Amino acid sequence: MGRCVLVTGGAGYVGSHTVLQLLLEGFTAVVVDNLDNSSEFAVQRVAQLAGEFGKNLTFHRIDIRDIEALEKVFSTTKFDAVIHFAGLKAVGESVQKPLLYYKNNIIGTIALLEVMAAYGCKKLVFSSSATVYGWPKDLPCTEESPLCAMNPYGQTKLMIEEICHDIHRADSDWKIMLLRYFNPVGAHSSGHIGEDPRGIPNNLMPLIQQVSVGRRPTLAVFGNDYSTKDGTGVRDYIHVVDLADGHIAALHKFFEDPNIGCEVYNLGTGNGTSVLEMVAAFEKASGKKIPLVMAGRRPGDAEILYACTAKAEKELNWKAKYSIEEMCRDQWNWASKNPWGYGLPDPAN
Ligand code: NAD
Ligand code: UD1
Repeated sequence: MGRCVLVTGGAGYVGSHTVLQLLLEGFTAVVVDNLDNSSEFAVQRVAQLAGEFGKNLTFHRIDIRDIEALEKVFSTTKFDAVIHFAGLKAVGESVQKPLLYYKNNIIGTIALLEVMAAYGCKKLVFSSSATVYGWPKDLPCTEESPLCAMNPYGQTKLMIEEICHDIHRADSDWKIMLLRYFNPVGAHSSGHIGEDPRGIPNNLMPLIQQVSVGRRPTLAVFGNDYSTKDGTGVRDYIHVVDLADGHIAALHKFFEDPNIGCEVYNLGTGNGTSVLEMVAAFEKASGKKIPLVMAGRRPGDAEILYACTAKAEKELNWKAKYSIEEMCRDQWNWASKNPWGYGLPDPAN
């Protein structure tokens, strides 16, 4: 049996892709997810895609704030590490319902950390976000760039990073990787798993995808008056499978380097792509026209954000390998095979 990893939020977008890579690498994976923003079908498909390794995957429908339920899982399985994806991530919703975000993301993480400590599992990989850089003055963002939360969602990421630093300071047995993701897009090349957010998506790629399959008539471009190459916002898009592999690299680091403390890594490509460039690449990959509507800037949006990836390359021995073309190809493959995601056609969405 390979090493055993608990994956919170493993039914979600980044989680499902990471669980697949874990299984293929010979790990045993236990997923806990309350399915708030995901479907159990994703877990089933991961097991199928993993072939003979699919038997090494277990799923529990659990809310991580439910300490008793978490304890039950920990009492029956000894985990070598935890990858913690579970959290709410819609920025706009976090502004409307801050308590929901603090309760779910912060209380949920504290519950998880307490149970981990009680059962002697002190290796954690946490999903942080490039959102912690706010609107950066200097680019690319390095792990030392100033941090600034622009909204309650971003606050939860910053607070959890701080909590992790504090518990490591208090007890150096804790080994923690804070992974700051840039913009994950694309899907597994099979087209059987991908992003399927509940309700109206917030992010660019799921919206482009829904326009491409006829679920929405147009894409609103949030601002075309930025000081960028074509006036639209620039981001560092990273293929979700590259991101998943970054987690495997982080786990290997845990098991190979005894000097790990509480470490921060950017996971991105280091390249900036504008909204219009992304739309053009997707149109080319899909052969579909994405009708655009020019809209005002979205409050809280940075103009340009991209990563310095030198630290992850050097210390995790990991580097993103997929291009924007491949991200769009795989996104379209998933979209065309699953125009309604994991669900059935829904007239409301
Ligand atoms: P996602 O919504 O697809 O996955 C999150 C999963 O967590 C979902 O399956 C949801 O049902 C589950 N969940 C939420 N609260 C829970 C709780 N209390 N108990 C149990 N399960 C719970 O999101 P994702 O895109 O896969 O993101 C994963 C993580 O990465 C999140 O923490 C997110 O904030 C972070 N992140 C995502 C992005 C991105 O653009 N996708 C960027 C930076 C950081
Ligand atoms: C957003 C969040 C960020 C979060 C990240 C991943 C905001 C302000 N920021 O980042 O906190 O970590 O998602 O979940 O919400 N765009 C359009 N039209 C759209 C949607 C987006 O033009 O309908 C543009 C945006 O202005 C931006 C780019 O596309 O320039 C990417 O947007 P998005 O996918 O939402 O990611 P971020 O803005 O990087």
